[in-house]
Amino acid sequence: MTIVQFEHRDGILDLGWGHPLPALLPTGAWAVASETSLRTYGWKALTYGHEPGPAPLREWIAFHLGGGGAEQTFVTAGASHGLALLTQVLTRPGDTVLVDSPTYHYAFRILTDLGVRLLPVRAEDADEVGRRAREHRAAFLYVVPTFGNPTGRSLTLPQRHALAGLGLPIVEDDPYRELYYTSPPPSFSAANVISLGSFAKTVAPGLRLGWITAAPELITRLARLGYVHSGGGVNHTTALTMAEFCASGAYHEHVALLRDRYRAHRDALAGALGTDAPDGGWFLWLRLPAGVDAEALLAVAERHGTSFVPGPAFHVDRRDGSGHVRLSFSHLPPADLTEAAGRLTVAIRSVC
Ligand SMILES: Cc1ncc(COP(=O)(O)O)c(C=O)c1O
Repeated sequence: MTIVQFEHRDGILDLGWGHPLPALLPTGAWAVASETSLRTYGWKALTYGHEPGPAPLREWIAFHLGGGGAEQTFVTAGASHGLALLTQVLTRPGDTVLVDSPTYHYAFRILTDLGVRLLPVRAEDADEVGRRAREHRAAFLYVVPTFGNPTGRSLTLPQRHALAGLGLPIVEDDPYRELYYTSPPPSFSAANVISLGSFAKTVAPGLRLGWITAAPELITRLARLGYVHSGGGVNHTTALTMAEFCASGAYHEHVALLRDRYRAHRDALAGALGTDAPDGGWFLWLRLPAGVDAEALLAVAERHGTSFVPGPAFHVDRRDGSGHVRLSFSHLPPADLTEAAGRLTVAIRSVC
């Protein structure tokens, strides 16, 4: 009976999955929030919701996470859904979307499902982004600027200013912002930046709950989409439960716990590999020794009992990225991460 996306493979400590450690999913606190929400809102918790999302959650997100006001906040079924909705509203099939390189690989499919063409750019190089945007009349730039997937890196404040100054619409996919392990990361603050937030990493991916922060006119356009008009606010019952989870203090308490725990995960993996550690998020982008190819290494690593996602997966042009692998430190506990790192090190040495 298949229930979850994760597939266990006997004998493999898999560093490929960007999933939470199961023991860190807040089942008890979520049950309390569900019960309180049903008691507080009664039938209103179970009927069709207000199109841009229920006010208690929009207000909480706007104040604590999203910036802007509630009128700039639209509740989605997660960041992936937010990207699909924005692409539907901001593009037509055949349009070009610039994508940072390397970047979150599953975004490619979300974008191409809607018929847009992908053009890789390097978001750190605003001149290149501006040139490409003009040449191809790009609809927007897609970027994961904070503790990026796969690199773990963040754009600096000057890099953000330079990009925002281009005037091009920027869709920042920002699910890792809250998971910082030293200090809060820099943010964009520009009208042409549209943000995708998510509770997938901070609370639970199974909730499929997130938000878009954008200008009020864009929020109105989203709320008028046929799909939203027909079914009402997206994921309404879960959104109201989240409003309760947040208002009770459970959200902040849980995220503080996650920072401590995932910091320890990161330290276990980076320490065992002897590499630099990212300041937040869930991923370590490991540079392989010269001449070692990520895809060829995968089969060898699996024979040694570990796995990862090879770098080319995160590039539009899959001939790029073969010198890196993405290692996720979220899904396995520290002792397993140390063991997996040892297996990977042996696998790499065996092909050098
Ligand atoms: C950059 C990025 N965007 C979006 C997602 C998916 O977010 P959600 O579960 O909210 O759709 C992920 C998850 O791996 C991610 O890393």
